[in-house]
Amino acid sequence: MPKLVAQDGHYALMVDGAPYLMLGAQIHNSSAWPGMMAKVWPTLEAMQVNTMEAPVYWEAMEPSEGKYDFAQADMLVAQAREHSVRLVLLWFGTWKNGSGHYIPEWMKRDEAKYPHVVNEKGRTVDSLSPHAPATLAADKRAFAALMRHLKATDGTRHTVILVQVENETGTYGSMRDYSAAGNTRFEQEVPGAVRTAMKTTKTGTWEAVFGDEADEFFHAWSIARYVDEVAAAGKAEYGLPMYTNAALRDPISPGRQGHWENGAPTDDVLPIWKVGAPSLDLLAPDIYMDDHARYTKVLDLYARPDNALLVPETGSGPAYARYCFAVIGRGGLGFSPFGVDATGAGSDPNAVAGAKSEDRYAQFNYNYEVLRPVDRLIARLNFEGKVKGSAEQPTAHVEELAFGDWTAVVQYGRPQFGNGGQPVGNTPPTGEALVAQMGPAEFLVMAYHARVDFRPKGAVEGASASGPQRQFLKVEEGTYVDGVWKALRIWNGDETDYGLNFRTSPVMLRVTLATY
Ligand code: DGJ
Repeated sequence: MPKLVAQDGHYALMVDGAPYLMLGAQIHNSSAWPGMMAKVWPTLEAMQVNTMEAPVYWEAMEPSEGKYDFAQADMLVAQAREHSVRLVLLWFGTWKNGSGHYIPEWMKRDEAKYPHVVNEKGRTVDSLSPHAPATLAADKRAFAALMRHLKATDGTRHTVILVQVENETGTYGSMRDYSAAGNTRFEQEVPGAVRTAMKTTKTGTWEAVFGDEADEFFHAWSIARYVDEVAAAGKAEYGLPMYTNAALRDPISPGRQGHWENGAPTDDVLPIWKVGAPSLDLLAPDIYMDDHARYTKVLDLYARPDNALLVPETGSGPAYARYCFAVIGRGGLGFSPFGVDATGAGSDPNAVAGAKSEDRYAQFNYNYEVLRPVDRLIARLNFEGKVKGSAEQPTAHVEELAFGDWTAVVQYGRPQFGNGGQPVGNTPPTGEALVAQMGPAEFLVMAYHARVDFRPKGAVEGASASGPQRQFLKVEEGTYVDGVWKALRIWNGDETDYGLNFRTSPVMLRVTLATY
């Protein structure tokens, strides 16, 4: 059974009994239909993903109340098997980007029974209330039915390895639900678990305990409890690992409350979500901010001792590709650009469908091509805390990755040869590097537009060099085939004299070091 496990502060998603690295891509929202899949697979195959993320639509699965039709989910499982990839199913239920657009038509037609959130001015907004027992009951029933069906059809093969419960829960346009049902609950005492999680000793109502933040925190708690019930109902049928994803707030300057998706598992309310939704294995950030400071800050905020890092959605524009190694190097279970297919759909009316897709995804393709043969190895080493990654940032052109006695030094935009040249960065900053420690002085290295070298502990470099100096015992280019290293050639001379130079081809080096 796939499961999430933790050890010494590191996480692994176990699939078939071993740590799994999810090299994923998420298809567009309206692509998971049988007639679309022929336009999905070529892009995913070119990218060499090992995992597809695809939605299951509640509206399609329960066309009339209590009558389930699993054809769409079955189609995804069958196609994933045919293409030898694993599947992450995304349950588009009560919330999809904060709205209820995927609930079945018979629910949409009965707003009294399945009410929307009401804002402070008494206006109904485009988001369903987390305080509506009928909505929760319907979602739980449907999700449980899906999981029961998956157990029956995939319970031994495990094509589906992970399930996302809802999609970007929360509400735009209101801090919380100000309906009578919402207000009654808002007037109740804050549960002790929430006070402990938020490290406050105050007691009383949400307003008394949290003041200005009360509305947002209450909404987060209400949605977390709701999602927990849905997840628990599904897990009771079939206990796959489950997570929910977050539309983020700005991690550096969040601005005023209400300027993000309220109630979502944003960084400020992660502790509330943790106690509110213990049935979820993790909370995952959808990262659509391509600047280095924000991207890496988000990674640091979500890679917590109590939360495994997974990036189930990120931009698929070229500026995002370089974060793949940084995500994995922070212990990430997986990485997945969003909207990867050639169905001609999406949210941008100005995009030219299918145009030059091979160029657009070139670096994503590189990432997975180099990682695919070592996905299991990297996942295992990551579980042992032995993998580090770097994404180029625009102003500093050197990043050091510390491994105890050795430090990997990654330089971006370093001129040819050595000769005192300083790294100037790539324009635009596309570089990335991933270093995995295989033994005390043995490393696996892959990088894109970067020079990587190693410095032993105690070394002083440059004109007044002293202490131990780095010596390459052996630098082999090669790959793993069925878990066995196959060397293609030994790098030496120009290829190693100034450091290890990586361009844009998927090169993997196994480096053995010593000092002199
Ligand atoms: C985040 C959502 O989770 C996706 O389903 C999709 O709507 C993207 N945003 C749009 O880019």
